[in-house]
Amino acid sequence: MPDLRAMCFGDLNNVVKVIHAHDEDDGEAAEADYRDAGFENQYVLEKEGQIVGVTGYKEVPSADQCYWLSWTYLQPSHQGQGLGKAMLLELLDILRSQGARKIFVKVSDYEDPEDGKIYQQALQVYQGLGFVEEVVSDDFYDEGENQIILGLYLRDDKDQLEQDPEVGEEKPIISFDGLFEIAETEGAYTFSWVVKETRKLFGKRNFSVEDLQIGLQSVQSEGGRKVFLTFPSNLPLIHSPLQSAGFKYVGQLQNYYEHGVHEFHFSHDLHNLENTPT
Ligand SMILES: CC(C)(COP(=O)(O)OP(=O)(O)OC[C@H]1O[C@@H](n2cnc3c(N)ncnc32)[C@H](O)[C@@H]1OP(=O)(O)O)[C@@H](O)C(=O)NCCC(=O)NCCS
Repeated sequence: MPDLRAMCFGDLNNVVKVIHAHDEDDGEAAEADYRDAGFENQYVLEKEGQIVGVTGYKEVPSADQCYWLSWTYLQPSHQGQGLGKAMLLELLDILRSQGARKIFVKVSDYEDPEDGKIYQQALQVYQGLGFVEEVVSDDFYDEGENQIILGLYLRDDKDQLEQDPEVGEEKPIISFDGLFEIAETEGAYTFSWVVKETRKLFGKRNFSVEDLQIGLQSVQSEGGRKVFLTFPSNLPLIHSPLQSAGFKYVGQLQNYYEHGVHEFHFSHDLHNLENTPT
């Protein structure tokens, strides 16, 4: 039986080869990501001394036991034989044994002109394992290439989790501190934001529609197509400026931060920037 073991630096070249065999861009992006973020909680599947698969997870910072599935690929010659499902089930068992609450995965709906929908198989495998579609972001990776996010509850108290508990609203002072193109996309940007002190000091205020418009114009001048923003669901002060600046609510990741606190997703199509009210 193939063996799932922790990934180490010496595995990098072979892991990148496995990913590259599926898609060259994915191979390059994965290599950059491993070099940048390291190998913590990343695993390789070994068969007769050869690396035939890779998977892993990353913890969501500032959230309660919530994770993202990381690069998950099998060598093409080993696909469709039950190995991918077995590898993922073992990974989910590792997470469950650590008390994990929920895991999400991002999948592209890219359709290759020659090979067709190259992530369709992965989508079907995830759905077969119980992952459920939660947010679809149109034109995320590129014009016409959408991002599908699926979520899976890892605890038995799924039904209880699905009921929304009373969660208090919070009114922190939020300001944007950066703007960057999202990795693996063509022209999709996001703004990073920070929570300032909640004390009411002179000159400190929540972000405004003008702040958003400055950010949108900067993205447009850099040639960006779209801006995607995410916020916790319990921040009532974010909605008015987002709406006035032309952002649309596109969906939510259920119970992302903690039981009852979801992640709201918003997007702005910069083709519509001229029509934004000022
Ligand atoms: C995703 C991946 C790891 C799955 O591994 P796999 O070994 O091919 O999948 P399995 O053979 O274990 O199949 C698991 C289940 O999905 C089903 N399945 C697999 N491919 C399918 C397909 N094309 N259509 C419908 N069902 C499919 C299998 O029948 C099996 O169902 P079962 O549980 O009822 O037996 C592998 O296909 C892969 O590397 N794909 C390319 C890379 C990729 O897209 N990665 C994800 C990026 S987000």
